[in-house]
Amino acid sequence: MNLEISIAGIKLRHPLMNASGILGYAREHILKLIRYGVAAIVTKTITPKPKRGYDPPILIELPNGGLINAVGLENPGKEAIPELVNEAKRHYMPILVSIGGVNEQEFIEVASVANDAGADAIEINLSCPHTKGYGIEIGTDPHNVYNVVKSVASVVSIPIIAKLGLSDKVVEAAGKAIEAGAKALTLINTIKSLYIDVYTLKPVLTNIFGGLSGPPIHPIAVRVVYEVYKEFQPEIIGCGGISSWIDAAEFIIAGARALQIGTALRGGSQNVIVSILEGLRNWMLIHGFRDIREAIGISVRG
Ligand SMILES: Cc1cc2nc3c(=O)[nH]c(=O)nc-3n(C[C@H](O)[C@H](O)[C@H](O)COP(=O)(O)O)c2cc1C
Repeated sequence: MNLEISIAGIKLRHPLMNASGILGYAREHILKLIRYGVAAIVTKTITPKPKRGYDPPILIELPNGGLINAVGLENPGKEAIPELVNEAKRHYMPILVSIGGVNEQEFIEVASVANDAGADAIEINLSCPHTKGYGIEIGTDPHNVYNVVKSVASVVSIPIIAKLGLSDKVVEAAGKAIEAGAKALTLINTIKSLYIDVYTLKPVLTNIFGGLSGPPIHPIAVRVVYEVYKEFQPEIIGCGGISSWIDAAEFIIAGARALQIGTALRGGSQNVIVSILEGLRNWMLIHGFRDIREAIGISVRG
């Protein structure tokens, strides 16, 4: 059973990696993720300068397994990139550097550092739903998506992956990202949401709004992957609510060739990657897929 896959030209021994923001901003996180068994590492979104993030509370765990976060893109800034890349390289582990910014210049600034540090790819975060000026404000406008991807593509030699979030124009935005030079798309980010305490009568998060992740967003993410795959057949990294091999398989047959796991990895659930891979192998056996690539987008093709 062959689970090897390439995404944006990067060879992976299997399709699973962590999602940005789940570990990935310190040296010891890289080691932890390697122990979890990921095939590639994605860093926390990194901005030009260190960013403090919001005051607590920043996380709400919902009874349905969902999580609402408003971390506020807390990160160590671009100076931390070489150390993270070197640590991954020391272990022969591919590393994707997630970059964030409020304008094209900021994206370029961080992308150049990642490029020079020897990262395998850049993931442009065009989709953070809870940090003003970063992400979703850019990502919902397909022209902005085009401009940011194009300007980053003009300064780096490594592949670019555009990470898009949920919006009415996500299919159009995906097309613009590809047209501007993105070699792959990560779909999707967290979804803007609100949690109100009925006793205090107030929103719980300091930032009021947060991003919903985990099982509740999975069917939405699968829908987005399906629609984008149907339209353009691009290389897609599926992300959103994966906690079992069934969620992973669903993404693959909707059109994803690689997968990112966020919320399910957060609690230090060390066996998640191993058990998903085991489940995928059994599933492939049942269906007679000898290579995972045979399954990609099969539900779209009919
Ligand atoms: C605590 C937390 C922090 C996150 N930080 C980032 C981030 O820095 N950059 C980014 O692109 N996505 C970030 N995300 C979104 C995840 O990468 C992922 O897109 C989302 O959580 C959906 O996947 P999941 O349901 O498996 O968690 C974060 C998610 C969580 C829960």
